[in-house]
Amino acid sequence: MSTLRTEVGIVGAGPAGLVLSHLLYLEGIDSAVLENRSRQYCEERIRAGVLESGTVDLLVQMGVGERMKREGLIHYGIELRFGGQGHRIDFKDLTGRAITVYGQHEVIKDLIQARLATGGRILFEVEDVRIDGFESAHPKIHYTHAGQPGEIHCDFIAGCDGSHGVCRPSVPPGALTVYDRQYPFGWLGILAEAPPASEELIYAHHDRGFALHSMRSPQITRLYLQCAPDENLDQWPDDRIWEELQTRLSGGNDWRLHEGRILQKGVTGMRSYVVEPMQHGRLFLAGDAAHIVPPTGAKGLNLAVADVRVLARALNAFYSTGSTTELDRYSKACLRRVWRVQRFSWWMTSMLHKHEGNPFDERRQLAELDYVTSSRAASQSLAENYVGLPMDDTLLR
Ligand code: FAD
Ligand code: PHB
Repeated sequence: MSTLRTEVGIVGAGPAGLVLSHLLYLEGIDSAVLENRSRQYCEERIRAGVLESGTVDLLVQMGVGERMKREGLIHYGIELRFGGQGHRIDFKDLTGRAITVYGQHEVIKDLIQARLATGGRILFEVEDVRIDGFESAHPKIHYTHAGQPGEIHCDFIAGCDGSHGVCRPSVPPGALTVYDRQYPFGWLGILAEAPPASEELIYAHHDRGFALHSMRSPQITRLYLQCAPDENLDQWPDDRIWEELQTRLSGGNDWRLHEGRILQKGVTGMRSYVVEPMQHGRLFLAGDAAHIVPPTGAKGLNLAVADVRVLARALNAFYSTGSTTELDRYSKACLRRVWRVQRFSWWMTSMLHKHEGNPFDERRQLAELDYVTSSRAASQSLAENYVGLPMDDTLLR
């Protein structure tokens, strides 16, 4: 049995776990990260693509933003397309800020490299992770690695293990309240070897369902189609996917998507989910382990980063002064932002997706899109949420 002593034991090497580990390192606090997947899997898993300006600033301040600054695509707006017409939301004019399109897996590569280069401990491909002792001052994480049992003894556990992790279910029943909403649709996403057909993201409302045009680089397009939550990919040969995307994203004139080899296909369900509080004893939940947003607002990764920024600061206050005041406020501070982001993600999702049923709702959605794209106040509200709520103390009260 191998036993490791550290200050903060972190479960999960996603954006939350890795950003936390590196922030703690920069403050001189020791941590160890346990991850059940391989390094290659983590570095190739295609997920989010949009970084808020506050996330970008933080990554740069942490010294992991060099490649992102070189390769990330800075966007000053997005397009909302409905009734076959495009309407631009101009972030620069409305907020003075921008977003950066840079794949989550690229962020992960940069973080893993920075962690390992600075002596960080990340154990990949661990199995049977179990946590206990977090109601006392001596939490423990148990695991198996390469067939050998191991234990981490730490002062705190950060549960950064995503929506299907082990940390949240380890909290005694009744201690957490769950707020949950399922949507009757999902997204079929593809990654294609084709240049983006537009410089900016296009969110399309169409009577056949929602579609999204995004990208990863000047050569790679990322596209999504609204589908059933349990959609069978066998029913979607490549030709059908392209035809459906061309129809839903059509924008008048002779604008067409560039088609190319499909490199990856997948279906994701849509959910809004929050647990309260995000702390139990010396266990702190962060990122998707504590909350899930539907991807329409492009917020999941950014919210995970915002949580661990608060957590790193609170842990730093503890290690430098012995005070638990900030740790005690962690959940409350994060939840204020979490609920605002939940509201925005739910609103974008409801406005843009096709809902079967009442034709009243279809007309109301079109009126909402009309309003959002013609009123400066309404487009400013969308823009300030999309580029990201402030990462400063105004949301920590
Ligand atoms: P995760 O990234 O899920 O990381 C958790 C880690 O823990 C994983 O590496 C996992 O393997 C590991 N783990 C799980 N269980 C265990 C265990 N028992 N032991 C050890 N390790 C474990 N967000 C955005 O901001 N913008 C977007 O544009 C966007 N688009 C998205 C598109 C799609 C299709 C999807 C699926 C998501 C999207 N998101 C987006 C959401 C975003 O990807 C997540 O919110 C983000 O990954 C959350 O980070 P996290 O670190 O909390 O969790
Ligand atoms: C993506 O590029 O994967 C992406 C972009 C915007 C979203 C969701 C996903 O809202």
